[in-house]
Amino acid sequence: MTTSLPRQDRIRRALELLRNETTDKFDEVIDFAPGEFTDPVLAQDERDYIFGTVPSIVAHGSELAKPNDFMTVQMPRNNIIVIRQKDRSVKAFVNLCRHRGALLEDREKGRCRIFSCPYHRWSYDPDGSLRTITRDTTFGDVDRAEHGLIEIPVEERHGFIWVVDNANATIDVADWLGPEMDAILSEYRLEDSVCFKAGGFDEPTNWKIMQDAFLDGYHIQYAHPNTAGKIIHTNVMAFEDFGRHCRFIAPRKTIDRFLEEDPGEQPLDKYVTETHFLLPNSTLLRQPDHFQLLTFRPHPTDPTQSRMEQRLIVPTVENSGMEAERWERLWTKNWDILLAVLHNEDFPLLRGSQRGMGSADAGDMMLGRNEIANQVFRRETRRLVEAGRAVSGGR
Ligand code: FES
Ligand SMILES: [Fe+2]
Repeated sequence: MTTSLPRQDRIRRALELLRNETTDKFDEVIDFAPGEFTDPVLAQDERDYIFGTVPSIVAHGSELAKPNDFMTVQMPRNNIIVIRQKDRSVKAFVNLCRHRGALLEDREKGRCRIFSCPYHRWSYDPDGSLRTITRDTTFGDVDRAEHGLIEIPVEERHGFIWVVDNANATIDVADWLGPEMDAILSEYRLEDSVCFKAGGFDEPTNWKIMQDAFLDGYHIQYAHPNTAGKIIHTNVMAFEDFGRHCRFIAPRKTIDRFLEEDPGEQPLDKYVTETHFLLPNSTLLRQPDHFQLLTFRPHPTDPTQSRMEQRLIVPTVENSGMEAERWERLWTKNWDILLAVLHNEDFPLLRGSQRGMGSADAGDMMLGRNEIANQVFRRETRRLVEAGRAVSGGR
């Protein structure tokens, strides 16, 4: 299955699949149980052994453009602050005052030179060090160096900010991506693009149900008959499995002109969408002129809730060759269309899935051979959970 064909050859392979009315396929149909989306013990293991163990993306670097720009993120295990440093590096901390545990920062985003606790006004520098203990002559002896904010491992790579949601872990994004996916992302030079807009949606749906829907090339014409279904072919994927991560090309309907006619040597990029699944929880869509990043995060306690974030990652105004106003209008329109599809078509369906799976007698379900990216997602998340359980010896 793993091939390293040049892009034009991979696109031609997708065209060939379309001509033959077929798709790349997984080895087998597999059964799965509804408990995978409702079980609180599994949910805790996923938080610890997936998000507490491996890197996942929290933002595009352009969202923290300047020193002292910060954002807060509810990760599955920790509420964190991610902040750009003076030297342009990024740090992340548990969002919690080391005195008596007040939430240090309640804004989602901002810029600040100091974090000042609302409870007794202790303050912290952007590098996390404890700066002031108010009325310190009466507080007693404290070694400030020991009471800075707790650091969470963070790394910026390929334009994205990644964290491992665990203060005791280390992070190595290149190692996690592996040579194939690291090279693929590096070629996109996403650090030269900007995040036009980021939006977050808290949904009453397990994160894996959400993630699954955005790896699914089989539902398009059925769930999105008047939107995506008009643009992209259903159930045709030229697929590559890199072991952990994977990617697939799906042909757009505009490619149909080449069903009969040979396209010759011309580049066919504009006739496809390429989807990358970055284990554990991101779908990166490469569209002809921009990228779209979708991330899915479990709720910190409830297996039946999650947060999806969508980011539109586009060429800067300067690199686009467009007037600023036109650029703004184009991407705003694009964003609004994406939001409408999510809210009107995907979310209601997925909320319904979660309700269905909560039925006491929901039977087993199945994933087809054609649902190949979903198969990889399930295989790999289970592998991480099983590896974590083996190390911890069950708890
Ligand atoms: S809890 Fe933050 S200063 Fe007291
Ligand atoms: Fe969908």
